[in-house]
Amino acid sequence: MKSQDSTVLVTGGLGYIGSHVVRQVLDRGWKVRVLDNRYRSDPGVARQIADLDRVEVIEGDVRYAHMVESATRGVEAVVHLAAVCMNKSIADPTESLDVNLMGTQNVLDAAGRAGVRRIVYGSSASVYGDPKSLPMFESGPFAPITPYCVAKLAGEQMLDFYGRRTKMSWLALRFFNVYGPGQPTDAYYTSVVNTFLNRIARGEAPVIDGKGSQSMDFVHVEDVARAVALALDSEATGEALNVGTGRQTTIAELAEVLIKHLGVDVQPTFSPREVLVTQREASIDRIHQVLGWEPAIDFEYGIGTVIDWLKSSGHPQA
Ligand SMILES: NC(=O)c1ccc[n+]([C@@H]2O[C@H](COP(=O)([O-])OP(=O)(O)OC[C@H]3O[C@@H](n4cnc5c(N)ncnc54)[C@H](O)[C@@H]3O)[C@@H](O)[C@H]2O)c1
Repeated sequence: MKSQDSTVLVTGGLGYIGSHVVRQVLDRGWKVRVLDNRYRSDPGVARQIADLDRVEVIEGDVRYAHMVESATRGVEAVVHLAAVCMNKSIADPTESLDVNLMGTQNVLDAAGRAGVRRIVYGSSASVYGDPKSLPMFESGPFAPITPYCVAKLAGEQMLDFYGRRTKMSWLALRFFNVYGPGQPTDAYYTSVVNTFLNRIARGEAPVIDGKGSQSMDFVHVEDVARAVALALDSEATGEALNVGTGRQTTIAELAEVLIKHLGVDVQPTFSPREVLVTQREASIDRIHQVLGWEPAIDFEYGIGTVIDWLKSSGHPQA
């Protein structure tokens, strides 16, 4: 059971989702140790995290078992978020599998040997591939398209293996299209928000790939971080849960919301390009049953938080 000194290791804790998770688990009484190689962390955010009370930051790489092993020593729980993104996995499958698959194996193995009680794994809706029907249920079908997606699904299966072999209880969370303050500008799906905002703010028309009918299930990063914190404190074990809103937003609708928020007079243009996934809509009944979680931030409000963040972070175009 969690005590005043219970420590959770957050791998990738200096990243976009990780930095929000660190704050939320601190609020719930955990001490936090972060393991991150700073590959993709924002230096300003990393400084803010390192300055927080009850947070220790270790610079290290999940690909090196000895680093993971020393970071895991004495922790009661692990939130595993360190990974390289979808784009990277297409450009460099070997490095992607090294980090996302072997790195996960290192984390699970070290956690099992250190007697860690609880583990929460940051998985992805990409395990489903391009769905044949909506909403997408946790039971599948699965059709991972890239090495990134393959590694996420394999990570869940390795959790199941370690869960049976050790005393570790676990949940995997399949994040849908996470957006919100701090989002990286080059993320495969949600970068569309930043890209559109930049073009619209310059008075240029947003360019939509395909016909604009492809949809995403945008879930706010604060809601995602709360799902992680609830999963950490829950005793439910042995399954993967969707973290989305259950609501589809087409890219054409996204462009419309952004144009409205910025109050500019532009119309989107369409450019033919193959899109990997044409639609997303999570079933969120199961996460509600298991964790009592549901999204609290609606899309219109959430987009406002991104625009405010871009302005306050001195983003040139916002
Ligand atoms: N952002 C999304 O929409 C989304 C959707 C589905 C799943 N996810 C998953 O959520 C997790 C967090 O994603 P994010 O969007 O915050 O990404 P991010 O790139 O902002 O954060 C990942 C963090 O991991 C660190 N990292 C990368 N390689 C590492 C390594 N070898 N060793 C140690 N640290 C390393 C990076 O420096 C970064 O701080 C990832 O596992 C990602 O696959 C994200």
